[in-house]
Amino acid sequence: MSSADVGKRAAARMAADFVQSGMRLGLGSGSTFLFVLERLAERIRDEQLEIAGVPTSKGTAEAARKFGIPLLSMTEIEHLDLAIDGADEVDPNKNMIKGGGAAHVREKIVAAAAKELLVVIDESKMVEVLGRAFLLPVEILRFGWRQAARAIETTGCVPQLRAVASGEPLITDNGNYILDCKYDEIPDPARLHDLLNSLPGVLDNGLFVGMAGRVIIGERSGKVRLIP
Ligand code: 5RP
Repeated sequence: MSSADVGKRAAARMAADFVQSGMRLGLGSGSTFLFVLERLAERIRDEQLEIAGVPTSKGTAEAARKFGIPLLSMTEIEHLDLAIDGADEVDPNKNMIKGGGAAHVREKIVAAAAKELLVVIDESKMVEVLGRAFLLPVEILRFGWRQAARAIETTGCVPQLRAVASGEPLITDNGNYILDCKYDEIPDPARLHDLLNSLPGVLDNGLFVGMAGRVIIGERSGKVRLIP
């Protein structure tokens, strides 16, 4: 296991241990979240933990089924007790970039329906300023995507259409494209979030502003830190 995975797994296991029987969960997406599912499955087996969760991606739904975790759809719930998810970058104000796995639109809807979004990351994801290293994902409609890309460019970035290994554009679970947008940095995430989402053809961008609850950071050593 890589040192990043040691941190991811440690953080994920602590998050899964905060889950209580009877909870309805938002199930995030990504490699860190898979470790949450692994631990939840252990607790279902060993402690008869009773939970059900709304998956934020087709990938998570498939993984949850394999782990034997009962699933719910968004239409079946009013609210969720807790959402757990990873992140690509987290700044000192707990603002985040998400969407490395192309799932940020559903992740934001699910997080907004939860009493708390519990974030699980390894220490490499903590940054001083968002956007210096990670490209900001923006989900856009396929219709008129070149026009949307040009409009997004005027916000100060270089957008790049995300592709799969074959070179074809990646299609999200919602049937759309992703533009990965390179900014020098994102000093005002709230402003950029609103600006991007005001552009025609933009579904949602990967900035999560003021949404994170507790953040659990797993270190390479396997130790964990919690930001309340
Ligand atoms: C998916 C996400 C993920 O939470 C984010 O990309 C982190 O992924 P990983 O845990 O694999 O590093 O936002 O859209």
